[in-house]
Amino acid sequence: MSDQPTDAANGTIVVAAIGDLHVREDGARRFRDLFAEISDQADVLALAGDLTDYGKTGEAELLAEDLRACTIPCVGVLGNHDYECGQPEKVTEIMRQAGVTMLDEQASVIEGVGFAGVKGFIGGFGRGELDPFGEPAVKAFVDESAREARKLEHQLRTLRTERIFAVLHYSPIAATVEGEPLEIFPFLGSSRLANAIDRFDNVKAVIHGHAHRGAYRGATPRGVPVYNCAQFVVQAELGRPYALIEV
Ligand SMILES: [Fe+2]
Ligand SMILES: [Fe+2]
Repeated sequence: MSDQPTDAANGTIVVAAIGDLHVREDGARRFRDLFAEISDQADVLALAGDLTDYGKTGEAELLAEDLRACTIPCVGVLGNHDYECGQPEKVTEIMRQAGVTMLDEQASVIEGVGFAGVKGFIGGFGRGELDPFGEPAVKAFVDESAREARKLEHQLRTLRTERIFAVLHYSPIAATVEGEPLEIFPFLGSSRLANAIDRFDNVKAVIHGHAHRGAYRGATPRGVPVYNCAQFVVQAELGRPYALIEV
């Protein structure tokens, strides 16, 4: 594993990962050159959610327009911001029309590598994880978190590839949200996602976004590398807004 591009002759591929694009209606062509650059650097582009700022149709269409500069396969998941206008299915459809394989319900295989992905949900980490106890609203909240983890686990189970790359929006671990205020950690991700990942030996890397002020690198309890690819985090770490992860 490495975050530097290498010769793919050894059978591995390089995945460019970026999250939290937050494309706005005044943001025309913001990512066009970047997607062209990424197409030269990597074999696959992975988008870790918050593709748009409010989940508006116009925002998604601007991103779709920029994605025309991307000449490599692209996979992605939505983020919470893509839900804000109450039409996540429209954002998904516009991304699909732009050629993006939206994960979520179904995994995908590209150049022999499995790609699984869900948005994920909040709920906290480790001993701080919220339990489904008491009021129906608490149970519904925890159920949403568990449902996202089950969807991820289902995709991982369907993939028979030796190597899997997992794409999330919310973090599966606390380590990559370090840097954010401790008080909001429970709203940045859920350990249930890491539990699902750690049931499989073939997951080789996990990316997420959402925690704009988090830390770049971490690992699940079983040691699977986790990268916070929110563009602001990657920019601070690598001097460019996307990560290059060999898998
Ligand atoms: Fe974000
Ligand atoms: Fe987010």
